[in-house]
Amino acid sequence: MKPKILEPKKKIAPSILSADFGRLGEEVKAAEDAGADYIHVDIMDGHFVPNITAGPQTVETLRRSTPLPLDVHLMIQNPDRFLVDFINAGADILTVHVEAVVHLHRTLMEIKERGALAGVSLNPATSLCVLEPALEYADLVLVMTVNPGFGGQEFIPSMLPKIEELRRTIDQRGWKLELEVDGGIKVENIGQVAKAGADVFVSGSGIFKTDDYAKTIAEMRRQIQRNTKSSPPRTPRARR
Ligand code: DX5
Ligand code: ZN
Repeated sequence: MKPKILEPKKKIAPSILSADFGRLGEEVKAAEDAGADYIHVDIMDGHFVPNITAGPQTVETLRRSTPLPLDVHLMIQNPDRFLVDFINAGADILTVHVEAVVHLHRTLMEIKERGALAGVSLNPATSLCVLEPALEYADLVLVMTVNPGFGGQEFIPSMLPKIEELRRTIDQRGWKLELEVDGGIKVENIGQVAKAGADVFVSGSGIFKTDDYAKTIAEMRRQIQRNTKSSPPRTPRARR
C-alpha cells in the first residue's frame, strides 16, 4: 500500500546517508519512531556528484521498511532515464537537479504523470531565476545548503537570503509547493532555516550522528516552532 503524504506542517526528513547502512531497516524504523515525517534518500551516480550511493533496489527495500513518504533526491546526470524505475520502486517524492536536466518542465510533468510528487533542486551556486519558470509545475523545491555529494558538511550561511527570497516568491505567487532545505542542518542552526521560511528540513548527520534520535528531533521541532511565524506552511497537491 502506498503511504499518504502527511498533513500540512513543518516536516523533518532524516537523510539516511548518515545512517548505519548495515542496519538500514532498523535505522529507518528508529527515525520513524523518533518522529520523522519523510525519509530522505540520497541517490548519487559518481558523475553529477563525486560519490556513489544507492539505486532503485535500495528504494524498494526502504519501501518495505516504512510507511513514511520516501523523499528521493536524485543527484544523478540525465535523471530522465531512471524516473520510472525510482517511482516503481516506491518513491513518493522524486526530486531532480535543475543542473542535470535539459527540459525541466517535461521532466516534472513526467514524474507527476507517473504518480509521484515532483521536486526540483538547485546547487548553492545556481541562481533561483533558472528554475522560477518551472516552479508553477513543481510540488517541492529543494534548496541545497552544501555542495551535494557528502553528508556531514558545513551549512553555507549565505544560502539563507536565497531561502528567504524563494519563500517570498512562493507566497506572492500563491504556488502550492513545499520549500525543502538540505545540507548541514543541525539543532544549532535549524531555527535560522525555519526563520528563512523552510517547510521541510533534511538532516543527515544532525540526526543519525546523535545518540538519541527522538530527543534530537524533538529539540529540532522546538527550534522550528520558536522561529516560525504563525501562518501554516503550504502543502503540495495530494497524490493522484
Ligand atoms: C548531500 C545530501 C544531503 C546529506 C545531508 O549531498 O543531499 O541530503 O545527506 O547530510 P547532512 O545533514 O549531514 O549535511
Ligand atoms: Zn539530499
